[in-house]
Amino acid sequence: MAELAQVLRPLLPVEDPNVLVDASTGDDAAVYDLGDGRALVVTVDFFTPLVDDPYDFGRIAAANALSDIYAMGSRPLFALNLLGFPRDLLHEGLVEEILRGGAAVARNAGVPILGGHTVDDVEPKYGLVVVGEVERERLVSNSGARPGDALVLTKPLGTGIIATAIKAGAASGEVAEAAVHSMTALNRSAADAMTATGVSAATDVTGYGLLGHLRNLLRQSGVGADVYVDDVPELEGARALAEAGHIPGGTKRNLEDVTPDVDFGDAGELDQLLLADAQTSGGLLIAVAPEKLEELLDRLDGKTLARAVVGRVIDAPAGMIHLH
Ligand code: CO
Ligand code: CO
Repeated sequence: MAELAQVLRPLLPVEDPNVLVDASTGDDAAVYDLGDGRALVVTVDFFTPLVDDPYDFGRIAAANALSDIYAMGSRPLFALNLLGFPRDLLHEGLVEEILRGGAAVARNAGVPILGGHTVDDVEPKYGLVVVGEVERERLVSNSGARPGDALVLTKPLGTGIIATAIKAGAASGEVAEAAVHSMTALNRSAADAMTATGVSAATDVTGYGLLGHLRNLLRQSGVGADVYVDDVPELEGARALAEAGHIPGGTKRNLEDVTPDVDFGDAGELDQLLLADAQTSGGLLIAVAPEKLEELLDRLDGKTLARAVVGRVIDAPAGMIHLH
């Protein structure tokens, strides 16, 4: 993924003065100023199936795509389907199930899917283009974190490890179900809570894992962070499955990639792997000023799968993370 992000670099920089956020900051979506105090927020996300059930796959892909809009404190307006599928399997009804899953989550988000595009592809792929809007002054980017801010995470970690275990047939039905429940949960309430509160910065936790996404947020903000390892929520069963060796390749690469910027302290290998676990449709990671922390936690209460204070922003070299 880090290699792939590099591929986009030569397309930059962009000279258009209406561009408020582009790919250069590794933010969650592109933001384009419409001039009247409002801005368009646009993202695209799609991937290959990580669970067997096509309906669940559709739901996960849609929740994941919508998440990048929520991570910027924005409101999704409408979406388009992106679908790749093998032509010779079209008659099996799987495509309908994938699209039905995507539509169910979009409906839940109050977002109509207005069209899309399908191509013949050897491996199925599904996701959405999502168009959203935000009042410029309410835009939440990844560059506003300040020393003293608390770091709040709104979903537990471990979906990468559990998805890998599901593919190996090693995850129990209960563990798999909880992971699917987490991956299909919208970050809508988390976004509502953070915009109502007013926060410093946010991002969603996806492919680079908590440490990777945190590091990017810290780099863009020019600060460092302490992370309280024992306070980071994880999905039931994820740790045991990691211990049994069900570690995604992406998780190992994530850990390798962040290692130069992390002081691991006493954190063991399992802790490190969980903190680096490549998430799909993970929660929001929110930096909030200490005097607003209680308000944010109150607004999140009962509305998100987690509302854990997982760390604190500190005055340190940009991107440095200390585990405690
Ligand atoms: Co994102
Ligand atoms: Co994304």
